[in-house]
Amino acid sequence: MSQQDNPTSVGAVVVLAAGQGTRMRSRTPKVLHEIGGRSLLGHVLAAAEPLGAAQTVVVVGSGRDAVEEHLTRIAPSALPVVQEEQNGSGHAAAVALDALAEVTGAVLIVNGDAPLLRAETLTRLVAAHGQAGDVLTVLTAEVADPTGLGRIVRDAGGAVLAIVEEKDADEAQRAITEVNAGVYVGDAAAVREALTRVGSGNQQGEQYLTDVLGLLVADGRQVGGHRADDADDTLGCNDQRELAARRRTMNDRVLDDLMRAGVVVVDPLTTWVDVTAEVAAEAVLHPGTQLLGATTVAAGAVVGPDSTLVDCEVGEGASVVRSHCQLAVVGPAATVGPFSYLRPGTQLARGAKVGAYVETKNVQVGEGSKVPHLSYVGDATIGRESNIGAATVFVNYDGVDKHHTTIGDHVRVGSDTMLVAPVTVGDGAYTAAGSVITTDVPPGAMGVARARQRNVAGWVGRRRPGTPAAQAAAAAGGAAADPATDTGKAGSTSRSTATDDEQQGRR
Ligand code: UD1
Ligand code: CA
Repeated sequence: MSQQDNPTSVGAVVVLAAGQGTRMRSRTPKVLHEIGGRSLLGHVLAAAEPLGAAQTVVVVGSGRDAVEEHLTRIAPSALPVVQEEQNGSGHAAAVALDALAEVTGAVLIVNGDAPLLRAETLTRLVAAHGQAGDVLTVLTAEVADPTGLGRIVRDAGGAVLAIVEEKDADEAQRAITEVNAGVYVGDAAAVREALTRVGSGNQQGEQYLTDVLGLLVADGRQVGGHRADDADDTLGCNDQRELAARRRTMNDRVLDDLMRAGVVVVDPLTTWVDVTAEVAAEAVLHPGTQLLGATTVAAGAVVGPDSTLVDCEVGEGASVVRSHCQLAVVGPAATVGPFSYLRPGTQLARGAKVGAYVETKNVQVGEGSKVPHLSYVGDATIGRESNIGAATVFVNYDGVDKHHTTIGDHVRVGSDTMLVAPVTVGDGAYTAAGSVITTDVPPGAMGVARARQRNVAGWVGRRRPGTPAAQAAAAAGGAAADPATDTGKAGSTSRSTATDDEQQGRR
């Protein structure tokens, strides 16, 4: 299909991503910095995707290994092309077009550091290019502060004449507030030819892609400038402050879309939602909520305050309060928190509960089952309607391997139980509080695994005489030791030490 048949299509997309990004002051290549759940490069590729170009080329250079590795993960069909030395955006474009020798028709060339570009903006630019019949059309924006950007120079009639970089601009040109967005659609052959004529006689000693426009104008060719509807789309990211500003803008856009669709966002300033997350209407996001990666939140669910969900699924009517969760599934009407940590592989069925100060990992908690307080639950299957008492630990690690614990339906695990895996507690079974369970508990049995209690009568009166405890004991009629039952001899060092140890070991 030729460009005339479909004015919104391009033959190829070229992303310029070889620059060093010096101003970021970071070892991470600039285009790999992340905002809103994607790299800068990932955002640009996502915006260009709907153009349906047959080929996508990404010019890599600085940090090329990392950028190429990233590309194989996020856009395996994109072709990385190496620009060995970063001699400027014009040189980068020439390297890309060399790799695209057979492409004819329109090519989109875009800076890799413009994460707020949206597909609609690119589609409109390509359509404007096709309709005007330009040989080259540049995306422009009106901005309040054009500092650092290339200025769009137009003649009295409004025709675009040139792009002048700030460092090369005179005072009158610097006053121009229409700037180059770093996004261009042009005829591949014409741009390729003009690039051969671009010099580096400028302040930065680089080959500017922007010079192509002036060269084509001098040739008498028709070029155009298409103003973006939303100037935010065109903003690049050159340092950490700009990165933070773009992140904020992207988040505002995501939250606006969610609120328009019926999501309750209590405090947009402290709520962060990645572009990759999904939230249904009538979900409620409280202050301090972060929904990251592939997280989904269903209708009527309540998240926050102060909760971070990474790649999680939260079902209808569920709630997650002041908790951190990663790769976890919180089923419909299930509840989490406050103050819990759900690690990968946690799956809470409908109506299950993980309460306060609980850590879970690789565990299925069945319908209506509860882990209410202060527990570690790792590598386990818990049936339905079971209760795990406070301070229970699933002892899953023997120092070398991890082992599984199976808890049946309607089980009551007593408080402070150690379940030493591999171990199974059958349906309807109980464990006694404070037990160390090392062998299976059959269905319906009570597993007891703890020392039997012994009271050393009169111990306080003998060993802590005169203390408030001794006085309270005496007032309560707590008699002195009965020599017949107290085998310990007060003052006998070895015996009393044993007794102290016993006292320490009990609860
Ligand atoms: C560029 C434009 C400027 C525009 C601005 C918009 C030029 C000369 N200037 O300026 O008019 O207003 O973008 O944000 O293009 N790159 C390479 N190889 C190189 C040099 C750069 O691949 O040798 C890539 C960079 O990775 C980046 C893009 O080209 O994605 C632009 O380079 P950058 O240095 O960011 O240009 P700006 O100074 O921002
Ligand atoms: Ca830039």
